[in-house]
Amino acid sequence: MKADQLRKKFINFFKAEPRNHQEISPAPLVPVDDPTTLFTSSGMQQLVPYLAGEPHPQGRRLVNSQPCLRLEDIDEIGDNRHTTFFEMLGNWSLGDYFKEEQLAWFWQFLTQELQLPKKRLWVSVFAGSKAVPKDNESARIWKKLGVPESRIFYYGVEKNWWSRSGPPDRMPPGEIGGPDSEVFFDFGQRHNPQFGSGCHPNCDCGRFLEIGNSVFIQYKKEKDGTLSELPQKNVDFGGGLERIVAVVNNEADIFKIDLFKPLIENIKQAFSLSYGASPASDRGIRIIADHLRAAVMLISEGVEPANKLQGYVLRRLIRRSVFHAYLFNNKELGGVSLPRLAAGLTQVYPKLKPSFGQIKQVLEEETKKFEKVLIRGLGKIEKAIQAKQKIDGKFAFDLYQTDGFPLDLTIEVLREKGQVLDKGARLVFQKEFERHRQLSRSASEGMFKGGLADTNKGATKLHTATHLLHAALRKVLGNHVRQKGSNITSERLRFDFSHPQKLTESEIRQVERLINQQIKKDLPVTCETKTLKEALTEGALAFFGGKYGEKVKVYTIGSPGGEWFSKEVCGGPHVTSTGKIGRVRIVKQEKIGAATVRLYAQAETA
Ligand code: SER
Repeated sequence: MKADQLRKKFINFFKAEPRNHQEISPAPLVPVDDPTTLFTSSGMQQLVPYLAGEPHPQGRRLVNSQPCLRLEDIDEIGDNRHTTFFEMLGNWSLGDYFKEEQLAWFWQFLTQELQLPKKRLWVSVFAGSKAVPKDNESARIWKKLGVPESRIFYYGVEKNWWSRSGPPDRMPPGEIGGPDSEVFFDFGQRHNPQFGSGCHPNCDCGRFLEIGNSVFIQYKKEKDGTLSELPQKNVDFGGGLERIVAVVNNEADIFKIDLFKPLIENIKQAFSLSYGASPASDRGIRIIADHLRAAVMLISEGVEPANKLQGYVLRRLIRRSVFHAYLFNNKELGGVSLPRLAAGLTQVYPKLKPSFGQIKQVLEEETKKFEKVLIRGLGKIEKAIQAKQKIDGKFAFDLYQTDGFPLDLTIEVLREKGQVLDKGARLVFQKEFERHRQLSRSASEGMFKGGLADTNKGATKLHTATHLLHAALRKVLGNHVRQKGSNITSERLRFDFSHPQKLTESEIRQVERLINQQIKKDLPVTCETKTLKEALTEGALAFFGGKYGEKVKVYTIGSPGGEWFSKEVCGGPHVTSTGKIGRVRIVKQEKIGAATVRLYAQAETA
């Protein structure tokens, strides 16, 4: 079975009677609204406000397939089951059906739709904790469905509790989560005692693969550290598309599914390798395949390599791919062409075709930059060795930090010179790395929290212009338009929003005209503080769910209680009236994703 077929099967299964789910659009890989995370890493992320009780415009039963990026597993990439980028099949009940229906439907999907042999499916349920009782109900339902007690395993909060931040003690106040029940596929091979004395579904020996997780989101963490019941009981199901395809094909190696085939073929050909020849070369092939796929997805959504935030992750993914390609290429960069390898991806992800020119350019430029890094880094190491300088974790980290020189490469170079970077050095490197990550995380929080990083006069005007643009786009194109991101400097504004295609010339003119009419009217821009609920009731736009606390700032362009043109929940700052903006002109547009358009606009001095 191919991934496309499985994706369709899952979505259609949940859309069909009697399940009647509505399909929702996947969120972009880079969330616009969540300062706590750089990437969309689960399907439920865009649904947090609705799981907490807000009514969702598409109803209480939702389904989709969500592209996700998870970096927690980055060091495990290279084995047969972990990837950074993956698609998560998801279905949700927002206070509608609960355990009985969810477990039965997923079981039906696996055993009837996909024809997986029942005997090879094992399940886990929550064993209970001090605050939350054991999930006897799920166990009872599994038994009713035919899963014998011997294939039902009970685990505590470390394994069978899900929230975005992990077990209850790690959930910050306001975070939602709950116990979960997972399904595992048994490949049947003998247990490897290196991984413990006995085998069980969560054992890492490779016998079992987790393929789906039904989370029963019914709790919220309170400020006093306790868990309170949410106003509604929800289901949040997530299943790895790639993993399920592999299992349906009875294949333990997810890199053998159709989504990776053309890419791996290209890697094999480029470096005259065969897949399956040795664990070391398989690891390198998988790292290139995984990182390149993730990098291409990020570039297709408009991320560019940079030294911080998402751009930094992209840079790391590209450089690690180049590095492994460089090793395969007898330590020569000439002849390493990431675009040539990545071209295989367009066969399985046709949506990448329109942006492949841009993808190619980014990959080529970053490879060139990395070439310089390699030369500089190798030079520094050579010099340090000659000067008999100590090459330790701090040295390796500095090389990485200032030159982007990867730790793996430092180790490899040193090995060639007959030296080893000891375990302690690795730890120092990790510590430095973690410290840096925390720093950039708090920097990103600071950046998202208050609205604008750049608060000078020009940027403030353009910020108000952004609200006008947002409202005008919704009036001209329709209410499906949602802000997906924005970036404002004193020179120009950049605005990403959901819309399936580029705007026509006439639509652009209409939007501009509408904005400039409001500017001409010199409408007042006022700010009020109210609860998010009040703001939403008044019709304010707020697509930034979890980001906002109880009280929010609402900016109105026009009369707050009377006729207004735009109302948005926002951190500010803004000009006091629209006349201060000057004439707005849309100067450029791009399609940056399947359903995302990016506009650039400028204001001519008032
Ligand atoms: N949110 C859960 C997960 O990510 C289930 O969708 O595993």
